[in-house]
Amino acid sequence: MNQRAETAGAVVGDFANAVVAYAGGEARFTRDREGYAMTLARAGTTVRYRVTRTIGRRGLQEYVGTQDGGAGLEVRLPFGWWPRRGGWYPQPYFDPWFAAEASFDAYAPVTEPWAERCPWCHSTYPFEQRIARATQKAIGHGLEQHFTAPGGSDRLALAQQVTTGISCESCHLGGRAHKAGAPIHFVPEGAAARAGAPLPTTFAAERKDPAIVNTVCAQCHSGPSPRLPDGTALRNSSEALDLAASPCTTARCIDCHDPHRGGFDEARATAACTSCHPRFAQPAAAATHSGHTAATTCLDCHMPRIVMGIDRVVRTHRISSPNDPAMLAVAAPNACNLCHLDRSISWTTDELRRGYELALDPRTWRAYGGIDRPVGEVWLENKEPAYRLLAAAAYARSPLARFALPALTKALADPLPHLRVWTMFAIEDVIGRKLTLAEFDPRASAVVRARQLSVLRLR
Ligand code: HEC
Ligand code: HEC
Ligand code: HEC
Ligand code: HEC
Ligand code: HEC
Ligand code: HEC
Ligand code: HEC
Repeated sequence: MNQRAETAGAVVGDFANAVVAYAGGEARFTRDREGYAMTLARAGTTVRYRVTRTIGRRGLQEYVGTQDGGAGLEVRLPFGWWPRRGGWYPQPYFDPWFAAEASFDAYAPVTEPWAERCPWCHSTYPFEQRIARATQKAIGHGLEQHFTAPGGSDRLALAQQVTTGISCESCHLGGRAHKAGAPIHFVPEGAAARAGAPLPTTFAAERKDPAIVNTVCAQCHSGPSPRLPDGTALRNSSEALDLAASPCTTARCIDCHDPHRGGFDEARATAACTSCHPRFAQPAAAATHSGHTAATTCLDCHMPRIVMGIDRVVRTHRISSPNDPAMLAVAAPNACNLCHLDRSISWTTDELRRGYELALDPRTWRAYGGIDRPVGEVWLENKEPAYRLLAAAAYARSPLARFALPALTKALADPLPHLRVWTMFAIEDVIGRKLTLAEFDPRASAVVRARQLSVLRLR
């Protein structure tokens, strides 16, 4: 996941003299005997970076490098390679944190050290450094929050890295003592504990305790994100905070995931639901409860796809039911309308009353601009960018997709660059092939884009 650039096979981006014109300048990606380089040139100034590391490779690959003639500081580079697209993109096209593209300058030398943020979740290093950072910055959602380390640095000392990338000691502590025969632990031993810190017991007990084993994962799966009123994160890497905000207090990450193999399995997750909620284990009871065929699963209504992942929309880890008035009133994405995009919120509340005897009154809800409008349209035109993105992906999964093409095509001109790219992904899912640059270039000027859109509309 996080590798040295010189490692064989680490780099997946096209460095064979690829050139991208962007914002009045040009980015060039090259390779020579000394390795990979990214050169950014505009108006007579040229900044050239030597690539030292890669971060990620499946959904997106980003790069770390040092500026030619600089002090050797490793920084995150401004362009990333998007494998799904097979192309180079400047940061605002894949990183949703930019409120406006104008706030991004790809040609200004980057000054923030890479080690300020990325390796805290993408590499392995001594746990005492994580404690020191949590102490200094008052951040930390993993076990580190329960301990203190006076002094110490909040910046990662790269020389102290155990490994580049994630290895055993990102999760298991006490490796050195273990080599000498002592048992391994999740709870650190010998660190200065704050009040209420969990005590090290046995590995067998620690792995059973959700409060311990989930915080192992929460060291890294607790990224910042805009959130819905019930705590739901709209972006991924925040799975641990979402699960912690869920009503399922005894659920552990490892009920649904194998920590050593990664990946996920829908059938295993559904089985986890019914093993803790056995009333719904019988198919007949599940069908009565859901009112749908088995194709609509527990996850579809209780873990809907409302999280922006790396290159696809993924399920939330905030387990919930689609009847929370605080969420419905603000037109937050609800599981029912994510499939029933053409139905209005008054239809949904009527069906919830019929199916589940839930009394909800939408007449006072202003957020829909009229309670009889198709909710899919309400979301696609919403002022909240995340809703637009989720709606585009929901249409792409839906049998309604073909009818939504004109609306999606309109959404291709979204003011936010990452929304344009994700809308393009949605359209590609619908038409079953890649849009070509001739049809749509998210980096084109408004005039050119409008022309390209008109070509799309003829389809
Ligand atoms: C709070 C922890 C955290 C921090 C800090 C963090 N990441 Fe990540 N990152 C993750 C997690 C967790 C994932 C996996 C997301 C998933 O698959 O759900 C991820 C995924 C990625 C991916 C995609 C990986 C792939 O194979 O598709 C890239 C690229 C990436 N991060 C880049 C960065 C960069 C660059 C930084 C520093 C600016 C950074 N990350 C900082 C936690 C973090
Ligand atoms: C992402 C976190 C993570 C990483 C990395 C990790 N482990 Fe684990 N490991 C766990 C968790 C969590 C459990 C408990 C699993 C459970 O109870 O289902 C575990 C359990 C184990 C067990 C007990 C297995 C059993 O079934 O009794 C061993 C042995 C182990 N890990 C060794 C390793 C080794 C060796 C590495 C490095 C190659 C490693 N782990 C990397 C999280 C991790
Ligand atoms: C390890 C056990 C565990 C797992 C796995 C689990 N839950 Fe729960 N869940 C609980 C507990 C405990 C509660 C809180 C007590 C209760 O209401 O039963 C809860 C509460 C809930 C609630 C709220 C109940 C209410 O009255 O408001 C819903 C809905 C729910 N779970 C659905 C699910 C779904 C769907 C899944 C699978 C995606 C799931 N749970 C997985 C243990 C679990
Ligand atoms: C040291 C930080 C760290 C810890 C601790 C950690 N993860 Fe991750 N995890 C990551 C990063 C970074 C990625 C993205 C890797 C990539 O794709 O490049 C990831 C990816 C994943 C994925 C997606 C894998 C896939 O195949 O798409 C799952 C699932 C996951 N982690 C579960 C867990 C669980 C469960 C735990 C706790 C037992 C855990 N992680 C602990 C950093 C961490
Ligand atoms: C079509 C949507 C839908 C599906 C599918 C669905 N649920 Fe629900 N579920 C709901 C709604 C709506 C509520 C809220 C009802 C309430 O609060 O009485 C709910 C409530 C619950 C609750 C809490 C209230 C209770 O009756 O205990 C649990 C637990 C639950 N569901 C588990 C499951 C499990 C497990 C599955 C899969 C077997 C599942 N649900 C499938 C819509 C669904
Ligand atoms: C009730 C089952 C369940 C539990 C508990 C659970 N997960 Fe997941 N997780 C899933 C499912 C299902 C997916 C697949 C989502 C998708 O593909 O849309 C998933 C996907 C993920 C991913 C990949 C997201 C992406 O962007 O591709 C990560 C990372 C992850 N889980 C981490 C965790 C962590 C960390 C915990 C504990 C804090 C956890 N999960 C607890 C069911 C669960
Ligand atoms: C994963 C997608 C999905 C989700 C989530 C979902 N539905 Fe459905 N719904 C369907 C499909 C597909 C059908 C038709 C086949 C069937 O019954 O499973 C349907 C049929 C229906 C019907 C009968 C046909 C109609 O259109 O009048 C009603 C009523 C309904 N759903 C209400 C709901 C409500 C209320 C929720 C939320 C609690 C919900 N659905 C969640 C996909 C979904």
